[in-house]
Amino acid sequence: MSDKNLTKHTIKLYLNHALKYKVFLFPLIISMLFTILVRDYGQPYIQSLILQKISDGNYDVNNLWQSFNVELVAYVIAVLSTDIASWRLNIWLVWNLEMRVMRDIAIRVFKHLINLDSDFHANSFGGSLVSQTNKLVGSYIRFADSIIFNLFTLTVGLIATLLILGPRVPLFAFSLVVLSIIFIIGNVYLSKPVRAANIKQANQESKQTGQLADSIANIMAIKSFAKEDFESKRYYREATKTKDATHQSMVKTMYRETFSSSITSLITISALIIAVVGTRYFGADIATLFLIVTYTTQIGIRLWDFQHVLRQVNRSLGDASDMVRILQIEPKIADPQNPEKTAINRGLIEFKDVDFTHSENNEPLFQSLNLRIKPGEKIGLVGHSGSGKTSLTKLLLRFSDIDGGEIRIDGQDIRNISQKELRSHITYVPQEPLLFHRSLSENIAYARPNASSQEIEGIAKLAHAHEFIDKLPDKYNTLVGERGVKLSGGQKQRVAIARSLLKNSPILVLDEATSALDSESEILIQESLWKLMENKTAIVIAHRLSTIQKMDRIIVLHEGKIIEEGTHKELLKNNKGQYAKLWSHQTGGYITE
Ligand SMILES: Nc1ncnc2c1ncn2[C@@H]1O[C@H](COP(=O)(O)OP(=O)(O)OP(=O)(O)O)[C@@H](O)[C@H]1O
Ligand SMILES: [Mg+2]
Repeated sequence: MSDKNLTKHTIKLYLNHALKYKVFLFPLIISMLFTILVRDYGQPYIQSLILQKISDGNYDVNNLWQSFNVELVAYVIAVLSTDIASWRLNIWLVWNLEMRVMRDIAIRVFKHLINLDSDFHANSFGGSLVSQTNKLVGSYIRFADSIIFNLFTLTVGLIATLLILGPRVPLFAFSLVVLSIIFIIGNVYLSKPVRAANIKQANQESKQTGQLADSIANIMAIKSFAKEDFESKRYYREATKTKDATHQSMVKTMYRETFSSSITSLITISALIIAVVGTRYFGADIATLFLIVTYTTQIGIRLWDFQHVLRQVNRSLGDASDMVRILQIEPKIADPQNPEKTAINRGLIEFKDVDFTHSENNEPLFQSLNLRIKPGEKIGLVGHSGSGKTSLTKLLLRFSDIDGGEIRIDGQDIRNISQKELRSHITYVPQEPLLFHRSLSENIAYARPNASSQEIEGIAKLAHAHEFIDKLPDKYNTLVGERGVKLSGGQKQRVAIARSLLKNSPILVLDEATSALDSESEILIQESLWKLMENKTAIVIAHRLSTIQKMDRIIVLHEGKIIEEGTHKELLKNNKGQYAKLWSHQTGGYITE
């Protein structure tokens, strides 16, 4: 996406969210308008009236109150109503608006990210997604503050100055407008390279953060390979690129600031010259002179701030760019426009002439794959690493879409129902289960958050997780990971199994669900799993063949093709077959019944 498009999308995102809170936005605009006009233009105007009276000798020394009471009262009201009242109101409204918009943007991003498909997540760093989310949310407040407190103030100020001074000193009003326009156009023009440099800088910062997160996540690999220096060098390279990118944006900023200060200096100098010349040639009075100097100072300050604003705006747009780009990504796996009501109940699974190639690969994995699993049938899936076992089950859950053929459950094409509906009918225990950094009971009860503590404990007993949980100081309230307890691979698998036991669905997919357990614990858990599989269609993937020995049918997959299938006994009869070979490897040639 081009930078221009990105900017458009970013501003649209900010606006759409801010416009949801018109109850704060519109009162804010009115209150700001009041504050600017009364505080920055009204107050000096009243002062100029007093000065004029004094300069004209148009007052009574013995009765000062009588002479100045209107101006004084007006001045007091102007000060109190802005400094105390409306300014507080502005801040209160801004906070209310910005806090809500920030929350909404954060939620918008969160929902988008968790709805993006697993391919997207497989290809992006978790750490940099987190930092990009924070940057987008933070960028909004910077952007909004700049627009509200500066750009708006500057525009109102220029118009007010023109209206008040235009009729009195046309030359001044004219030059102020011309110089301000030159200033703004010049700044906008010079900001383009700054913005480009800022976007580069933000991208590079994200890369650096991603690198940091990746290294920290793989800390054990780094240490066990003794690659600390290698990783440090990699990180140094990224950090240096960030430094260079930052340098570039600072240089571009410097060019712009030099131009800006030339123009603002010109404005202040010419204001004073015009004020002085004014007394001689236009017969300008003292009040006008005072207003020229005060108003010009105001505009000067705002203009100078304006380039700061451009910088803030550029930085915001740069910070927002990565995540806004991600927000435009449509999930590759889309739900149908009008999802059918699901017909899944018995669990008849059919793969018909399925073709599939992983998005990053050229070689197809499955070509015209056919597989029919009867309702309630228990299938064991074996095959060498990389033969496509996990991929096959992921297709069933529609984590990826197939390129040809169809996958049907109970006669219904899985693309015709919503993904949520589909997945709610399949219990899936992945090959590398990850647990949330939440309590053990929350982890176990994930499928059914209102499960009672007795239920949770009962389920944990079935998964043989209760034994170790019971020994933890906080038992089921123990936090997992981060600042909580670290679980062993086998313990994690038991919790993951317990978690799936609470989900009731007609189809069960276990991908190496017990691979990290010792044979003895596995046998214990097998019993529970058999109970779980009762009346369900089950696909169980295992490298350890004893795990799937009792299955109704065992399917041997090789490079995406089914090369053998049958019961354990049938497969062993073909002693040239891959299954028999694998079995004899695992049992040391000793074939048991
Ligand atoms: N997200 C992915 N993107 C690209 N290729 C992938 C992806 N996931 C898997 N593959 C490739 O698809 C092939 C099958 O992988 P799969 O994970 O299905 O194998 P597996 O049989 O489950 O292996 P294992 O026993 O090691 O778990 C492999 O060649 C793998 O490199
Ligand atoms: Mg696998």
